Amino acid sequence: MKMWSISFRIWHWIHAFVVLSLLATVFLRKTFLSWRANSEILASNLLTMDVDITGEQAEILAKAVRSPMWEWHIMFGYALSLLIFIRMLLFFTTSGKQNFINLKSLNLHKKMVSLGYIGIYSILVFMSISGLIMSFHEELFLVKETVHDIKEVHEFVFNAVWIFVSLHIAGLIVAENTDEKGIVSDMINGGK
Ligand code: HEM
Ligand code: HEM
Repeated sequence: MKMWSISFRIWHWIHAFVVLSLLATVFLRKTFLSWRANSEILASNLLTMDVDITGEQAEILAKAVRSPMWEWHIMFGYALSLLIFIRMLLFFTTSGKQNFINLKSLNLHKKMVSLGYIGIYSILVFMSISGLIMSFHEELFLVKETVHDIKEVHEFVFNAVWIFVSLHIAGLIVAENTDEKGIVSDMINGGK
């Protein structure tokens, strides 16, 4: 039997794509589509055309430019929530348990890797629940202040996501080049 079933591999790669896309939307929001930077660009360019707008109007325009991109954050967010639910179901399969059985017999490094996976799953569960609460705050009758507090925590925990992804990819490069050759191709062809 393959080490990673086809369903687990498909899940991993779609999940990786969705998490990287979520990070990309945050990157765009904080850089090229930052409303602060773009409102200044819009206001100063309009001024050269003799159109004088207030800071508030510039903010509205800059946020309108950002809005279609940010809709992707919400869409990928729903996709992530569904993928996390599917991952819970995959725990009942051999591949889904692979990294979490016989933990005691593993060396310290492997134990840390498995703990890291449990850590990232907990973080992604938090990101999904907090994200869904923000998206459905009207239906949940939440006041603005509560949504704002949730957003602050959601935004802070985002750091844990990019740190995990960076460590995961760096760790795999090291593993491929030392004692775990083929670890990445195993996740592509299923391994033995
Ligand atoms: C794009 C480059 C990526 C590559 C080449 C890659 C490759 C792999 C490989 C080879 C494994 C198995 C490692 C092992 O058995 O310890 C794995 C596991 C895992 N990867 Fe990735 N990955 C990538 C991106 C991501 C991203 C962006 C995430 C998002 C959080 C992610 C989340 C995970 C998780 C949670 C596991 C553990 C699976 C489990 O046993 O439950 N990966 N990845
Ligand atoms: C990998 C997972 C996720 C990461 C790294 C992430 C990251 C972030 C960050 C950094 C912000 C704050 C942006 C800013 O104000 O500059 C944010 C806001 C938000 N996220 Fe996520 N998020 C994730 C998952 C989700 C999920 C699953 C949902 C659910 C649909 C979601 C919905 C939202 C919403 C509604 C906001 C508030 C947007 C606003 O106030 O305009 N996120 N996210």
